[in-house]
Amino acid sequence: MRVLISGGAGYIGSHTVVQVVAAGHDVVVVDDFSNAKPTVINRLEALTGTHIPVHAFDLTDRDKTERLFADERFDAVIHFAGLKAVGESVDKPLEYYENNLGSTFSLVRAMRRHGVGKLVFSSSATVYGDHAPVPYREDYEPLAAASPYGRTKVMIEHVLSDVAAADPGLKVALLRYFNPIGAHPSGTIGEDPQGIPNNLVPFIAQVAVGRREKLNVFGDDYPTADGTCERDYIHVEDLAAGHLAALTALEAAPAPVNVWNLGTGTGTSVLEMLHAFERAAGKEIPYEVVGRRAGDLPAYWADPTKAHEELGWRATRTVDDMCADTWRWQQGNPNGYPDA
Ligand code: UD1
Repeated sequence: MRVLISGGAGYIGSHTVVQVVAAGHDVVVVDDFSNAKPTVINRLEALTGTHIPVHAFDLTDRDKTERLFADERFDAVIHFAGLKAVGESVDKPLEYYENNLGSTFSLVRAMRRHGVGKLVFSSSATVYGDHAPVPYREDYEPLAAASPYGRTKVMIEHVLSDVAAADPGLKVALLRYFNPIGAHPSGTIGEDPQGIPNNLVPFIAQVAVGRREKLNVFGDDYPTADGTCERDYIHVEDLAAGHLAALTALEAAPAPVNVWNLGTGTGTSVLEMLHAFERAAGKEIPYEVVGRRAGDLPAYWADPTKAHEELGWRATRTVDDMCADTWRWQQGNPNGYPDA
């Protein structure tokens, strides 16, 4: 297949590019590089041993999107591109709605106009909201989310479901990610957050490498075994493999819309993760327990049964693998990707 990967220069997108190429497909990337460095493409070309064509523009630009689809032929699209910082989405909600919804409208419009019939979309466990029973199952309703960011994911899930239901030529996979961490085992690509990391493992990695003084643990008075929040951390390599499995399965999938959780099915606490990272890095990582962060749920994880049964996919990497690979990437690239 010839696969267009939007946001292919980003964290999850870049890992997926490597696996989609390795599976024998041709990949074209579209990315506006608003949250990714162009040098990631050099790393991807070195890892895959192929030239990766890149189109640098913002998908909310309908004319440019239409031109790309008029000029090239695609069999499928994997749509990662989007704004993704929960806190920022509260301060800039309009930007989040305009960007995440607008890019999806523009992309799907071009796909339909040019007969591209397979779409894999990056959704999030955040669509389960605050009341879903744990473990989260794909059939839970009603979807809800506690932030504008999360609401863009809920809205896009509804939009894509409605469009696919009305159009027999379109099949959609909605992939609900749990907490992706880790890096490619080569240590040459990984997560490169701009500014202060919002997420736990990138922050721990920056403390371990000496860029930050200590981790703030947001609350140890939750109703969990050690009092810190539990999440379902999934290795980005397993997550990328889930995209490939979904892409392959869409061809024969009976339903127009297919929702799959991509998680491991187990929870890990903040302190367990900290200690796993200490083992990987071979050093103590200073931390301090501070107050809770607004909006954090105590504990949740995926029920990954549906993806296993329908995709034959299952996460195989352990938390120790995730930390070892994150640490290899962080040590080799203490300041992330070079500017040039
Ligand atoms: C967050 C987003 C989620 C998004 C996901 C991407 C919220 C409420 N949710 O998930 O929508 O899809 O990132 O991976 O923001 N923690 C610390 N200290 C830190 C950072 C985090 O103790 O410096 C704790 C948090 O309180 C939480 C856990 O670590 O309990 C995981 O946090 P994080 O990595 O930000 O992920 P989520 O909040 O689960």
